[in-house]
Amino acid sequence: MIFDSFLVFCLVYSPLAVRAAEPHKILLASRSAGQDSSRLIRRGSPVVDPLEDYYLGTDLQWYGNIAIGTPPQQLTVIFDTGSSDLEVASTLCADTCHGQVLFDSSLSSTFIDGGETDTLTFATGYGVTPLTDDDSQIEVRSAYDTVTLGDLTLENATFWQYTSQTLADQDIPFSGIQGMDASGKGLIAAAKAQGLPGLFSMYLTPQAAGNAELMIGGIDSSKATGDINYVHFLNERNTAWVISSPRVFVNGQITSTLNETRYCLFDSGTSNILFPPATTEEIYSLISPDIQPFADEPTTYGIPCSKISSLPAVIDIQFNSTTGTLFNLTIPSSELSVGPFASDPEICQTLINSWDSVVPIIGGSLLKHYLSVWDVDGKQMGFAPNGL
Ligand SMILES: *[C@@H]1O[C@H](CO)[C@@H](O)[C@H](O)[C@H]1NC(C)=O
Ligand SMILES: *[C@@H]1O[C@H](CO)[C@@H](O)[C@H](O)[C@H]1NC(C)=O
Ligand SMILES: *[C@@H]1O[C@H](CO)[C@@H](O)[C@H](O)[C@H]1NC(C)=O
Ligand SMILES: *[C@@H]1O[C@H](CO)[C@@H](O)[C@H](O)[C@H]1NC(C)=O
Repeated sequence: MIFDSFLVFCLVYSPLAVRAAEPHKILLASRSAGQDSSRLIRRGSPVVDPLEDYYLGTDLQWYGNIAIGTPPQQLTVIFDTGSSDLEVASTLCADTCHGQVLFDSSLSSTFIDGGETDTLTFATGYGVTPLTDDDSQIEVRSAYDTVTLGDLTLENATFWQYTSQTLADQDIPFSGIQGMDASGKGLIAAAKAQGLPGLFSMYLTPQAAGNAELMIGGIDSSKATGDINYVHFLNERNTAWVISSPRVFVNGQITSTLNETRYCLFDSGTSNILFPPATTEEIYSLISPDIQPFADEPTTYGIPCSKISSLPAVIDIQFNSTTGTLFNLTIPSSELSVGPFASDPEICQTLINSWDSVVPIIGGSLLKHYLSVWDVDGKQMGFAPNGL
C-alpha cells in the first residue's frame, strides 16, 4: 500500500512499507449549538497552523504544531499528505529518539494504551543525502488520547507512539508525522464537525520567505497570486491525492516518453520529485548530459555543483482542470539543485529521484511554488501560484 506510506528523499522519515490500514473509530468533540442556531450549522473559523521550514542544506520540509493529551502536550509534526496516521516520538523511545520533544503518556489523564505494536520499515535521510540503501525502522505502539490543533479537538483519537527507532545520529526538530491523506479522517473530520468545509490549504515557502502555513477548514487565498485551478481526483474511492497529467515539458520541449498520461501522487512529506527510471532519464537528457546517477546513493542523480547555476531546467507538468482547460504546474530552474552530497560536496544532487513506485510522486520542489488546496469533500486538488 504505497499510498499509505510516506516517502522522503533527502530529508526526514519515509516508511516504505506500512502496516495494513485498520478502521479507526474516532469520536469527535461535539460543540453545543446555541438556542437560536438549532437550524444552522455552526461555522467556526478555519484553523491556521504556522509551519516551520526544516532547513538542512535544502528547503523542502515543513512542520507545525499539534497537541496530544490532557493537559495538552505541545508537539511538532510534519503534515504529510502521503500517509494517514498520527505517529509521534514518546518517552517509550527515549533511548533512541534524538533531540525530539517526547510525548509522555504518564502526564495525560485521558491516555489509553492500545497495546498493538507494529514495525515501520523506511528509508530516511537528512539534508541532501538519503539513506535509501540503509533501511531504518520505527517500532510503534498504538494508543488513544485527545488530539488538538487550535480549535479542532479529537477525543480518544488513535495514534502511535514510537517505542524505538534506528536512525542516523542526528537531532530532529519535530516529534512525528500527522497523516493528511484524502480519506477525510482525523483533523478534517474535526473541522467538518464544526461546520467547516472538509478541505485544507498549504502554503509551503522557502525559508527566506517564511510564513509557511497549513489552514484546515478553509483556503487562505491571500497567499495566492492568481486563480486556483482545480483538478478532479483520479477515482472517487481513492484516499490518495492522485491526479492525472497528460504530459510533461522540459525547457519547453516534449518527447514521446514525456507525452504520456501519468498519475501523480502529491505528497507534502516528500522533498523531491520521484519519476520512473525512463521518465527520469528523459527529463535529465533534455537538461544536461552532465547529470548522471550518483553511485553512492541509489536512486539519486548529481551534477558538478559548478555547472548548476547556468542550466535552464524548467519542468512544466501539465494538468487538465475541472473546466477542461489545460494548465501547467511549473518547477523553476532554481529547484534543479537539492544541494551538495555529504559524501562528495563537489557534486550537487538534482531534484528528481528515479523510483519505480506505483505512481510518480510530486513533493516539496513543486508544492513550494503554489498555494495548494486539498479538497476532500470536492474530491479535487487546487493550485494557484504563490508568487515565490
Ligand atoms: C477509545 O477508542 C477505543 C477504540 O475504538 C475503544 O476501545 C475505547 O473504549 C475508547 N475509549 C473511550 C474512553 O472512549
Ligand atoms: C505549458 O508549458 C509548455 C512548455 O513550456 C507550453 O508550450 C504550454 O503552452 C504551457 N501551457 C499550457 C496551458 O500547456
Ligand atoms: C502528444 O500526444 C497527443 C495525443 O495525446 C498528440 O496529439 C500530440 O501531437 C503529441 N505531441 C507530441 C509532441 O508528440
Ligand atoms: C481535458 O478535459 C476535457 C473535458 O473536461 C476533455 O474534453 C479533453 O479532452 C481533456 N484534455 C486532455 C488533454 O486530456
